[in-house]
Amino acid sequence: MISKLKYGSVIGVLLGVLLLSACGNSGAVDTTNNNSTEGMSVQNGDAEMIYKKKCMSCHGTDLQGRRGPSLQNIGSRLTEEEIVDVVTNGRNEMPKFEKNISAEDIQSVSKWLSELK
Ligand code: HEC
Repeated sequence: MISKLKYGSVIGVLLGVLLLSACGNSGAVDTTNNNSTEGMSVQNGDAEMIYKKKCMSCHGTDLQGRRGPSLQNIGSRLTEEEIVDVVTNGRNEMPKFEKNISAEDIQSVSKWLSELK
């Protein structure tokens, strides 16, 4: 008459779950961007792609700002150099991208942003 099933507790699969929140990009982001205005400035394609991958989650689908400030006319507030600095080294809640984006790419996204006046 000995009950053996005392340890019927379920083994929860706790491991690993904690690390799953790494990148919450939901893949299909609706951007009303068509490439038809291409041709005026050269590297916009690259810069915008970097923006979409790395910055859009905080600065908005249309640069309108979200968790971070709007960057819609950032070029009238910051120079290209200053933008490179913020992106490279971060500032308050703005993460630094020094190790995350190549210097070349930071340069190109900063140049693009600095032209938005
Ligand atoms: C985790 C959210 C987050 C991400 C991702 C992010 N930013 Fe930011 N960004 C911020 C916040 C918050 C600020 C405001 C910083 C402050 O308070 O000084 C900011 C500020 C800035 C500024 C200065 C704006 C100003 O008005 O002075 C620039 C430029 C900028 N971000 C560019 C970028 C670029 C380019 C990327 C992608 C490479 C990026 N950010 C990615 C959150 C983010």
